[in-house]
Amino acid sequence: MTDTAPKKLHIKTYGCQMNVYDSDRMAGLLAPLGYALTDAVDDADMVLLNTCHIREKAAEKVYSELGRINKVKQARHKDGGAMILGVAGCVAQAEGEEVLKRAPYVDMVFGPQTYHRLPEMVAKLHREKGAQLDTDFPEESKFDHMSAPARIEGRAAFLTVQEGCDKFCTFCVVPYTRGAEFSRPVAQVIAEARDLAAAGAREITLLGQNVNAYHGEDGKEELGLGGLIRRMAEIDGIDRLRYTTSYPAEVDDALIAAHRDVPELMPYLHLPVQSGADRVLQAMNRRHGRDFYLDLVDRLRAARPDLGLSSDFIVGFPGESDADFEETLDLVRAVGYVQAYSFKYSPRPGTPAAAMEMQVPEDVKDARLAALQDLLNEQQRAFNESCVGRTLPVLLDRPGRHEGQLVGRSPYMQAVHVEAPADWMGRIVDLDIVSAGGNSLGGVPRGGGNGEDAGQPARLTA
Ligand code: SAH
Ligand code: F3S
Repeated sequence: MTDTAPKKLHIKTYGCQMNVYDSDRMAGLLAPLGYALTDAVDDADMVLLNTCHIREKAAEKVYSELGRINKVKQARHKDGGAMILGVAGCVAQAEGEEVLKRAPYVDMVFGPQTYHRLPEMVAKLHREKGAQLDTDFPEESKFDHMSAPARIEGRAAFLTVQEGCDKFCTFCVVPYTRGAEFSRPVAQVIAEARDLAAAGAREITLLGQNVNAYHGEDGKEELGLGGLIRRMAEIDGIDRLRYTTSYPAEVDDALIAAHRDVPELMPYLHLPVQSGADRVLQAMNRRHGRDFYLDLVDRLRAARPDLGLSSDFIVGFPGESDADFEETLDLVRAVGYVQAYSFKYSPRPGTPAAAMEMQVPEDVKDARLAALQDLLNEQQRAFNESCVGRTLPVLLDRPGRHEGQLVGRSPYMQAVHVEAPADWMGRIVDLDIVSAGGNSLGGVPRGGGNGEDAGQPARLTA
């Protein structure tokens, strides 16, 4: 028998946007069992931590959070109540039994590919004693079990189209935690996008660990990411498209052509390079060199001259010399990023790089990270300042910090603040950019305009 009395569910999400998407799906799967979301752990009948294993710090955070939640759980038990505590995501996948060893009070441990079995796991918990562990890579896909519409926050939605990665960069756990590359069929993706549009989404970000490896079944043929983007752009109500994260070696001509031809595709691209030195890229097993990357950037910019680029960088990869690191700085200067993420190399158990000799000392990593971030921050600030005087279409999707203010996203993912009436929320408004900070812009309606919906611009002018 399934108990459907009203209950409260708290989900804490760590890591990437794909985890955000998965957490929404878990909430959707548990809703029929009577679980409604709550922001407060103290109120919750079930707490799920959807975890990230990408760097050591991300994994350790989970264990300290589990300790804190266990205190609430034990207090609840003393009062005669109950709380179900679950660990989901990539820490669960990578560490499995180890989670139950370190945190024996956890009731469920399940990986990113098995959360569609959540209702079954919960039912089993009620029937059987002991924790539930499910870290298979099952044959049936979780995507076949997702009827619940995604939650849409502020008109911008995520849609997972691809999962897993077969590239095996030597530093990365994703191929082990998320499994082999898998693309959802085109019809399934389009149907979900239509549902999102019907629920009010105007912007969709297509997600995948290696999203441009997308090759979805489309009747008897296969469709790549460039083709999928063209199909998505035809959907009524979808004004803006983005995709993340892409792997440089697999950006094909069709995708570059989509940047040229599809105005809905925003002129912003996250294209991780990791390092600017060929020696390091090779040791990372990146399958692209420095020149290939720089040439790819040129080809993308030829297709879409107003393209803003973002990237991920790792400093202190085993064997990285001062000269290698200089090549990274040099590549950053050559490309000119609008924003970027940078990390110190963190050895992940079981990955080839963790066993490599010549690990770089922590203080060297710290110094390189600081130098790289100085340069990247400077580029980001310069780009933001170059936006002052331009007119940018901004999708207003959040209230601002003070009354009468709204916040939205520019095509380049910058937060833009504007004084505007509350009923402009959800519109794409042309804003004259009048101020810039390190992380955000300030705008006023174009020519003191009335916030008329600008829809999708054909092209932005520099
Ligand atoms: N394509 C993937 C990238 C995965 S991880 C995706 O977005 O889903 C995101 C970034 O974390 C990587 O691009 C890399 O820069 C960084 N990263 C991954 N493993 C790392 C490690 N062991 N140490 C430091 N940074 C790492
Ligand atoms: Fe990780 Fe490299 Fe794939 S960074 S997700 S193994 S492309």
